[in-house]
Amino acid sequence: MDKLVIEGGYELNGSIRVSGAKNAALPILAAVILADGEFRISEAPELVDISTMLKLLEELGISSHRDGKTVILNSKFDKEKIEAPYELVKTMRASVLTLGPLLARKGRARVSLPGGCAIGERPVDLHLKALEAMGAEITVEYGYVEAACEKLKGAEITFDIVTVTGTENIMMAAALAEGETVLRNAAQEPEVVDLARFLKKMGADIDGEGTKEIRIKGVKTLNNVDYTVMPDRIEAGTFMCCVAAAGGNLELTNVPLHEMRSTLNKLKESGLNIDKLDDTTINVTKTKPLSATDITTLPYPGFPTDMQAQFMAVMACSKGVSVATETIFENRFMHVAELKRMGAEIKLKDKSAIIQGTDTLTGAPVMASDLRASASLVIAGLMAEGETHISRLYHLDRGYENFVDKLTAVGAKLKRVKE
Ligand code: EPZ
Repeated sequence: MDKLVIEGGYELNGSIRVSGAKNAALPILAAVILADGEFRISEAPELVDISTMLKLLEELGISSHRDGKTVILNSKFDKEKIEAPYELVKTMRASVLTLGPLLARKGRARVSLPGGCAIGERPVDLHLKALEAMGAEITVEYGYVEAACEKLKGAEITFDIVTVTGTENIMMAAALAEGETVLRNAAQEPEVVDLARFLKKMGADIDGEGTKEIRIKGVKTLNNVDYTVMPDRIEAGTFMCCVAAAGGNLELTNVPLHEMRSTLNKLKESGLNIDKLDDTTINVTKTKPLSATDITTLPYPGFPTDMQAQFMAVMACSKGVSVATETIFENRFMHVAELKRMGAEIKLKDKSAIIQGTDTLTGAPVMASDLRASASLVIAGLMAEGETHISRLYHLDRGYENFVDKLTAVGAKLKRVKE
């Protein structure tokens, strides 16, 4: 297993290009199941989760290879290949995104239940309930979801809770169903919109993506297409937090600014300088100590839960007391204990963390628990006095493309070593 050794106290100066969005690429790759032929998906980030999804598609009859930032897939219909095995699903919950497309295209699916993860139980009951409303017969046994339906039928579905992959799964299932499906209380995340754009390019009939009500009229067949995945707003926000912690002057390119208003507002509110150079380029500079700023995570367009841990690391050394309230996941404060090992003064109360800003943090051996918690520990390490050793680095590799190289290229002192 690898660990990361960070020597804190070095400012960041230079330019970083943001990669394609993991959480847009994953449903888009799953949607390839819906049609045959060659697909060229550009800006698919080189991440462990993406390779896991490609391995899963291989199991389902879809071969692929990478050509730089582009993944070329060759989708061949194989009625027998309908199983997403536990060995793959246990490493990546997003495997559940194959359920809707398999059911719509092949009439059958056998997908391992993803199981929980560090940030919460993360059930998929809403996905299953919606598919049953579309006529699927679903049983859950031996840790697998068995689903069958000759032809899915359009239905009116209202999600009890806003669910990103739930919305994506049903949008894909409805694309080939008979009749119209109306999704209410749908997720409005930009990655849902990117998936809808991809499906519409394939020939799907979708309206309302990006609002709380999405209408999908089923079509007979869909076609293979080429597509470029949107940039990653969470990676971009993570780099902004790196400057907010370490200081310096960083240009970020390929930034989906339009989809990042809540993150940009909070970072500006704390005192970080963010100048827009053009529609997708910004200059981020830290000109003064930051001030305490409260956040509450909410479904889009609210402050993203995937930015909560990173923002908390920045608040650990801001002036004053800030409160971070996590409303999406029941256990997304695993990074708090690790930040406290570095000297952060944080108290947990119900769904909130109260952060008393301190002047400095001190480097320490810490452990990553999930993808964004590992990013939060990197941010803390960049500004801590001395060395920080972060173990269980595989969490970081799941969601950040060349994170270490990108940061060292702009002056950070960090290196990956064998544990
Ligand atoms: C997606 O997860 C993202 N993953 C997560 O990003 C992100 O944190 C999350 O949305 C929220 O924005 C991908 O897109 C691959 P949800 P998802 O369904 O779809 C509950 C990262 O760091 N729920 O929107 O799994 C659930 O437990 C990852 O890149 C049910 O109860 O999240 C949670 O409390 C982490 N039943 C809430 O809804 C269901 O059937 C929101 O979950 C589905 C969800």
